Amino acid sequence: MINLVDVTKSYGKGLPAVNHANLHINKGEFVFVVGSSGSGKSTLIKLLLRELDATSGNIVVNGERLKGMKHQKVAKYRRKLGVVFQDFRLLKDRNVYENVAFAQRVIGKPTRVIRRRVPEVLQEVGLAGKYKSFPDELSGGEQQRVAIARALVNRPDILLADEPTGNLDPATSMEIMELLERINGRGTTVLVVTHNKEIVNSMKKRVVTMHEGVIVSDEEEGEYHEA
Ligand SMILES: Nc1ncnc2c1ncn2[C@@H]1O[C@H](COP(=O)(O)OP(=O)(O)O)[C@@H](O)[C@H]1O
Ligand SMILES: [Mg+2]
Repeated sequence: MINLVDVTKSYGKGLPAVNHANLHINKGEFVFVVGSSGSGKSTLIKLLLRELDATSGNIVVNGERLKGMKHQKVAKYRRKLGVVFQDFRLLKDRNVYENVAFAQRVIGKPTRVIRRRVPEVLQEVGLAGKYKSFPDELSGGEQQRVAIARALVNRPDILLADEPTGNLDPATSMEIMELLERINGRGTTVLVVTHNKEIVNSMKKRVVTMHEGVIVSDEEEGEYHEA
């Protein structure tokens, strides 16, 4: 599903942000990526989203080779990925329903499909009663659920999350991680970048640790290591 072979990404001078990384993730896996600030985690996510092109090496996702991919192809490729961020990135002037529906409108889904799918995905993330609320009227955890619903509405094969609980309290963080685990249980491959040591250690998932751009460990049922 995701395959990185000797991938390096340099922004300029100095150490590469990602340095000769090899990573293979199978369909249906749940993987944590951990590492201190500046270790290259977000760069890895951007490479997978094809926001960045690797300086060297090869990335293949879903059978698609990302190197030199044309703009139109990139847009289509990204439809197979869902992504959530620490800061939610919701549209503040649209309600919950519209925030989620938007992701379907931009790819030209018919209104009848949107009307069926949006309530379904809001139910899945536990927000069925909140579809008329605006982001400002929701808690941080609820806002992240909206962002997750938006990421899932087009049924991506892979969900990427870059520090999704970075702005949330511990209890809410655990709820969000459990939601991501449930989503994974329904077949979506999930890759989560996080700093949350307690959660990583309690969930017993695969843990990939980065340090200064290098993948320094990759363990099944791993623990959070300070590299
Ligand atoms: N747009 C950029 N231009 C130049 N350097 C960058 C850019 N983005 C990230 N970096 C550098 O790349 C390294 C990895 O950053 P990043 O992938 O954001 O790490 P993390 O998400 O693990 O904190 C850091 O040294 C950072 O300063
Ligand atoms: Mg980051």
